[in-house]
Amino acid sequence: MKTTKPSPDAARQPHTTGGEGGQTRRSFLDRLGLGTLLTAIAGQTWMMVRALVPNVLYEPSLRFKVGTPDRFPEGVTFLEDRRLFIFRNQKMFYAISGVCTHLGCTVKMIQLNQPQKVEIRGKLTEERWEFHCPCHGSKFYAEGTPYAGPAPTPLAWYRLEVAADDGQLIVNLMEPVNQDFRLTV
Ligand code: FES
Repeated sequence: MKTTKPSPDAARQPHTTGGEGGQTRRSFLDRLGLGTLLTAIAGQTWMMVRALVPNVLYEPSLRFKVGTPDRFPEGVTFLEDRRLFIFRNQKMFYAISGVCTHLGCTVKMIQLNQPQKVEIRGKLTEERWEFHCPCHGSKFYAEGTPYAGPAPTPLAWYRLEVAADDGQLIVNLMEPVNQDFRLTV
């Protein structure tokens, strides 16, 4: 069998580990390390900048339009998304909150089978409806005064205004008013 002997010149060649391929591998690893470092620095910087920006919570406005007066029929309209009762008696309007003053459940308006005479703060009034809270049983007279259950305070009344630009009713939740409030349009 014929065997090939290595030439003496080849044996004298200096021994290298990988030659050109090894240098390419090293430079690739260097670049990889640098890339990882830059990514880590960028991540840290982003987190620091993000921590300086406050989390913005978009809450519904506390003063908002609900439509022109002719949109509201005589009697009561419940605005479910605002949890608000808008009452209309001909040209007079007022707004009562549907939020129970105990723990914030939405009260329900209950029509009475027949009118009842009740005395509220020394004044005799005829009631045709009242509000009941389904959560813990609080009950409120028609103008919001609690008479049963754990609710500590009356349902809130809010100021109504007429918008100068388009005549819509505006509810202002930042301005509670007393139970005598009426807006005449
Ligand atoms: S939330 Fe209305 S009675 Fe408790």
